[in-house]
Amino acid sequence: MRRAVCPGSYDPVTNGHLDVIERASGLFDEVTVAVLINKSKRGMFSVDERIEMLRDTTASLSNVRIDSWHGLLVDYCRDNDIATIVKGLRSVSDFDHELQMAQMNRELSGIETMLMPNNPLYSFLASSLVKEVATYHGDVSHLVPELVNERITKRVAELE
Ligand code: PNS
Repeated sequence: MRRAVCPGSYDPVTNGHLDVIERASGLFDEVTVAVLINKSKRGMFSVDERIEMLRDTTASLSNVRIDSWHGLLVDYCRDNDIATIVKGLRSVSDFDHELQMAQMNRELSGIETMLMPNNPLYSFLASSLVKEVATYHGDVSHLVPELVNERITKRVAELE
């Protein structure tokens, strides 16, 4: 079975993430979307909330599963028999960092990384910017799924 992982913070999932996840699901037998836990980074959403939003927004993709992990990505891949990391590539500036991580991960464990150029519609899209715009009551409804937009609006109100 050809397994891949789409790792990330997903705080929260955006239309850009979903584009990559959906395209990866067409290329592999099983795709795991792994929420990587970074304890030093406080997010807008808890890991459980991020997982819930990912589950809801990928429900129609039968070969996609959602999981979370605290630790090295290569260890997660080894434990779950995953041979490929899939990452979206938005820009040339993304490329520098993604290349470095891909080479480090290969050095650590031999795992391959596939860099998937994003749909240009989403080249500017990042969870961090979505949260910043939403915090100042900007409209992000066209950048995230409807249920994610509702959650963001609710969280922004709670934080005020
Ligand atoms: O959505 P992000 O924050 O850009 O995702 C980055 C992420 C979580 C994929 C990356 O930081 C990662 O793989 N973290 C897990 C820890 C790890 O393996 N670090 C070594 C990377 S070479």
